[in-house]
Amino acid sequence: MTDSENHQEAPSNPTVESGATTLEQIMGQRYSRRRFVKSALAAAVASGAGSLAGCQEQGAGGSSPGGESSAVSRFDFTEIEHGIDEFHHIAPDHEADVLIRWGDPLFADSPRFDPRNQSAAAQERQFGCNNDYIGFLQLEPGAAGEARALLCINHETAYIARMDPELEWGVPFIFTAEQCEIEKAAIGNSIVEVVRQDGRWSVVSDSAYNRRITTRSTPVLVSGPAAGHARLKTSKDPDGRNIIGTLGNCAGGMTPWGTYLTCEENFPDYFGGNLAAEHPEAENHRRYGLPTNLKQWGRFDSRFDIGAEPHEPNRFGWVVEIDPLNPASTPKKRTALGRFKHEGAESVIGPDGRIVVYMGDDERFDYLYKFVTAGRYDPAGKEANRDLLDDGVLYVARFGTDGWVDWLPLVFGQGPLTAANGFNSQAEVLIEARRAADVLGATPMDRPEDVQPIAATGKVYVMLSNNTTRAADAADAANPRGPNAFGHIIELIEPEGNFAALRTRWEILVRGGNPAESAHQASWNPATTANGWLASPDNGAVDPQGRLWVSSDQGEKILLSGTCDGLWGVETEGPLRGMGKMFFRCPVGAELTGPQFSDDGETLFVAVQHPGVPAEYVASKPGSSGADMHWPDFDKNMPSRSAVVQIRRKGGGRVG
Ligand code: FEO
Ligand code: CA
Ligand code: CA
Repeated sequence: MTDSENHQEAPSNPTVESGATTLEQIMGQRYSRRRFVKSALAAAVASGAGSLAGCQEQGAGGSSPGGESSAVSRFDFTEIEHGIDEFHHIAPDHEADVLIRWGDPLFADSPRFDPRNQSAAAQERQFGCNNDYIGFLQLEPGAAGEARALLCINHETAYIARMDPELEWGVPFIFTAEQCEIEKAAIGNSIVEVVRQDGRWSVVSDSAYNRRITTRSTPVLVSGPAAGHARLKTSKDPDGRNIIGTLGNCAGGMTPWGTYLTCEENFPDYFGGNLAAEHPEAENHRRYGLPTNLKQWGRFDSRFDIGAEPHEPNRFGWVVEIDPLNPASTPKKRTALGRFKHEGAESVIGPDGRIVVYMGDDERFDYLYKFVTAGRYDPAGKEANRDLLDDGVLYVARFGTDGWVDWLPLVFGQGPLTAANGFNSQAEVLIEARRAADVLGATPMDRPEDVQPIAATGKVYVMLSNNTTRAADAADAANPRGPNAFGHIIELIEPEGNFAALRTRWEILVRGGNPAESAHQASWNPATTANGWLASPDNGAVDPQGRLWVSSDQGEKILLSGTCDGLWGVETEGPLRGMGKMFFRCPVGAELTGPQFSDDGETLFVAVQHPGVPAEYVASKPGSSGADMHWPDFDKNMPSRSAVVQIRRKGGGRVG
């Protein structure tokens, strides 16, 4: 979900003062915004975009600002170029195919997707909207020896206004009770069985594993220290343990025991209404940016009206664990991992067998966390680890200027986390994890997104997407630019590979933006080409060779970078450390989410989220209404729709 669409107007961390520098100021005097839009779009048009195949291949045309390097990249593909157009682009030695789109069938009885006559009942039987995280779980081979797997996919949000193919971004519409129900059915999760034949995966559309989890109908249990707490009780759930659905499912992770963690990020967007300033929850809700009144669900469902149900928001903002192998299983909200705008939850096994889960709170001036289980991982399987995530310690990061992070425990009764500061139990520390981290003195970060450990190296990569409200005098060692329009990536080096360590060394790997523009204050390896740098890093993925891949989510900031979002390989070791290389580019309007490799590294799945053609782009195409630009169908009767894309090397072999 992009910065512009889904993040509140102002950061909600009261411990930080922010500046008000605009993007125009960041860009300095060199470009007016209008001129930059025009030149970026004109370049895209001039590059000959026009095929209806939906994908164009290209070789790199950029020159290396730092000259030739004799070091050999670990990434073996031909780089593509930056640019803005309505197609997706893949390195020419690879090929990309759409695997599944919003509205595609998941069951034998799924109704055909009819965007002008969509219903909530139909949507519950179809692939959801705005795919984000993709988890991969290998299954036993099929009868003919073919590879089989489950994909575990998040559906972050829904834009019912865009269901009609004639509507695009920003068109006003009347929101109805039925549309509210369709949105509830379009978000959540999909479990999808896929099978590979001749190197290509296809959806098994009648698999017994296929499942939709929706905010309209799926019961979810609350588990861990906050389960049953008074502040989780509502008129419909007096036990505080039973919730229908999950919200804002952004990134996630797969556990070593084969379950799927899905993260509740932008849950405040679903809440409306008003709460009296003196209400006991008022300050808590303000700290989480509630209510945004962005969605209008509260008009039709009192659950989402904070005046009617002041505890309902406390039931969202958690990490949810799902067993994809059991379609009858009940998802569980694991409250021990804290409540915030969870971007992702990638886990790794520590040297003593405890599990460490890395997590970002995607808000300007919010924090980086890790959770360390009390118990040890048991390789016996999922039953042996069933409730491992219910017991452990949540830590928040304080970055020192000495190059070390201290991990501060969010434990009731320790330090300032006592009744004197309004915390009466561990449940309250977790429900108000942001405020607990505030009083501990954690370091406010520039929107921590996905946090990707690499088990083989003991290193962890923190994607920080941007923070244009950080004032110049509020820059610090770990967030060195104020304002920060282009984001950066921090590397954590866990001592001797001990992911559970309470002190961790850190460095900045790259600073996003164009290294050839001094105003960007970007920093990349000099071997990076004119296409190899990226801005607003969001998701990280690791392939079986232990290489890091990074996706971007710039929102409207594509006008600053001159390129749509995409996926880059980023070198982390050796003389090319800090060099990026562009591999895949999204169609205009979309962010690139969910990068995930198959276990053998021969397929890379990516989720193209919220494609859509902005009005400025249509205006740059003489004679076009925009109706023929609807990725990936390019059919005027279909809306632009999110889809999962599979990528493989031409002729087979490892991707990248
Ligand atoms: Fe949903 Fe922070 O991206
Ligand atoms: Ca994201
Ligand atoms: Ca990741």
